[in-house]
Amino acid sequence: MTEDQTGTMEAGGEYSRHSLAQHSAGGLGLPLLGRAVAGVAPGVAALPAGVPVFVGDFGAAGGRNELTPMATTVEGLRSGGIRAPIVVVHTDIATNDFTTLFKTVEESPDTYLRTPDVFAFAAGRSFYERIFPRASVLLGWSAIAVHWLSRVPEPITDHVYSAFATGSVRDAFARQSAADWDAFLTARAAELRPGGQAVVVGGMALDDGTSGAEALMTALNSAVHALVASGSITEAESRAMNVPTWNRTMADFIRPFEPDGTATVAGLALLEHAAAEVPDQYLLAYRADGDKQAFASAVTGFLRAFTEPSLFGTLDRSALERRRAADAVYRSVEYTLATDPERYETVWKVALLRFAKAEDAPSG
Ligand SMILES: C[S@@+](CC[C@H](N)C(=O)[O-])C[C@H]1O[C@@H](n2cnc3c(N)ncnc32)[C@H](O)[C@@H]1O
Repeated sequence: MTEDQTGTMEAGGEYSRHSLAQHSAGGLGLPLLGRAVAGVAPGVAALPAGVPVFVGDFGAAGGRNELTPMATTVEGLRSGGIRAPIVVVHTDIATNDFTTLFKTVEESPDTYLRTPDVFAFAAGRSFYERIFPRASVLLGWSAIAVHWLSRVPEPITDHVYSAFATGSVRDAFARQSAADWDAFLTARAAELRPGGQAVVVGGMALDDGTSGAEALMTALNSAVHALVASGSITEAESRAMNVPTWNRTMADFIRPFEPDGTATVAGLALLEHAAAEVPDQYLLAYRADGDKQAFASAVTGFLRAFTEPSLFGTLDRSALERRRAADAVYRSVEYTLATDPERYETVWKVALLRFAKAEDAPSG
């Protein structure tokens, strides 16, 4: 897998079709986004007529889950009396499914694009780098994306999921995560206008390092190891198969903002932060209808959409062989999940963060 494939979601609209959990998680950030919009509106009112304002969406995937936050932003600005043209820029890594993104934003009945003088652009560049000109972004939004690291720092040899990394490998993930979070915030600190604000809904871990997905990811890991046992892939190939994510604790998230002189990122103030849990929508549906197979199929679709590219992209095999290996793994996961849905309940933890660039920050 090349570095720029790190974190890619399944293409062809698959991620959008299987991202109910992320949709629920992102929804938890909407109240913060509403407050961010209200917070920036007075500053925009002072801009000369016709000067556009930029809204940055960081980690847009196929766009389905971006429609509500961007509509919230557009409606909030307009109802706050802001008449300026609004440019929404959806950003993601270059290998993202931008075709689905553009179609979703153009064609969805829920699109924010029907509002006059609102425009949608996209940028294919990592959010760990600068994407926008200095002091140009009024509002930023990022949901369920910053747990994707810029790279796998070291392979986790016996598991696909970083929560199970131990010793020096665990330390390497923690260091990579801290460096990536600093890079993300440093880039946003440069890009935000003075007084601009951003909201991040970040996949979080509890202080013991657990994210809530341990049972599910262990089912995935067992299926990968079963493939080794069957001789379909080699032990060495399985060792390179990692999902390049790391869920930060709340302490990790807020450390760069520390006001006591230890801040690692200058020019940003943390306005609010809270932890929340994302109820398992798939399990709630199962409890209502008792359909184990429907639960297993929905959760496997969700899991496959965010893990297949990073796990199977590492296999130096033909596309057909990779597809067959992936089919076998996810079939096995689906079978396992259907045996006992309650055991695979996945209650993700999220950090809800709102931060601002100081009004008097230098913009040059
Ligand atoms: C789980 S999806 C979440 C998408 C969407 N915001 C949502 O709420 O459903 C994570 C997205 O982050 C993107 N991503 C991962 N690493 C990234 C990076 N370094 N820069 C920009 N986007 C990244 C992935 O490509 C993916 O589209």
